[in-house]
Amino acid sequence: MSWLMSAIYDRFMAASEEACLAEWRHALLADLSGAVLEVGAGTGANLAHYPASVTRLTLSEPDPRMSRQLRTRLEAAPRGATEVVDADVVALPFPDAHFDAVVATLLLCSVPSQALALAEIRRVLRPGGAFVFLEHVAAPKGTSRRLWQGRVEPLWKHVAGNCHVTRETQDAISAAGLDVGDVTAQSMRRALPILRPTIRGIARRPVSN
Ligand SMILES: C[S@@+](CC[C@H](N)C(=O)[O-])C[C@H]1O[C@@H](n2cnc3c(N)ncnc32)[C@H](O)[C@@H]1O
Repeated sequence: MSWLMSAIYDRFMAASEEACLAEWRHALLADLSGAVLEVGAGTGANLAHYPASVTRLTLSEPDPRMSRQLRTRLEAAPRGATEVVDADVVALPFPDAHFDAVVATLLLCSVPSQALALAEIRRVLRPGGAFVFLEHVAAPKGTSRRLWQGRVEPLWKHVAGNCHVTRETQDAISAAGLDVGDVTAQSMRRALPILRPTIRGIARRPVSN
């Protein structure tokens, strides 16, 4: 993240958090249990939404400015059995099949390679484990929003921490060998128009491999 974006991130997202994101986060995380890894945890927007049934929570955030805010939020509202690690999503310092669930929210827009990130997420998930995602994505092809996303992206990704707005993230999750269940596509209210199309849901690592 740029210095500016990490400094204003929570304020930049506040209107959308209030309008819809907080509710979506809460519902997505409500049924999780056991050992959970969140990748790209940012300033900790999901923290308040993890249920008590999550008995071990690992928050991974490589950006020192975001990680500092995450640690501050955690200190203000301590949660048992929770640790913060600095790992990049493409090099997670955990054994294979280590977690019952992996959570990524508003992350896959900004990683250099979705395929590498998703392969690593799949590796640390146990067979049958849940990959919980909430991402902003490309608008449907042929729409004027998609046209504008393509025009704005080259500049936007430089000011917003490599954030891409034309990614077909659901296809990337499937291509990584995760079974995508029901996906909810909804507009992120009170966000910039290029960021509004979102998807969220749960994909599972197949039990057989
Ligand atoms: C848009 S913020 C989202 C933060 C948080 N997940 C949320 O829902 O508000 C993207 C986060 O992903 C992190 N990030 C970017 N590239 C990453 C990578 N390769 N590995 C892990 N985290 C990464 C950034 O540092 C940033 O904190």
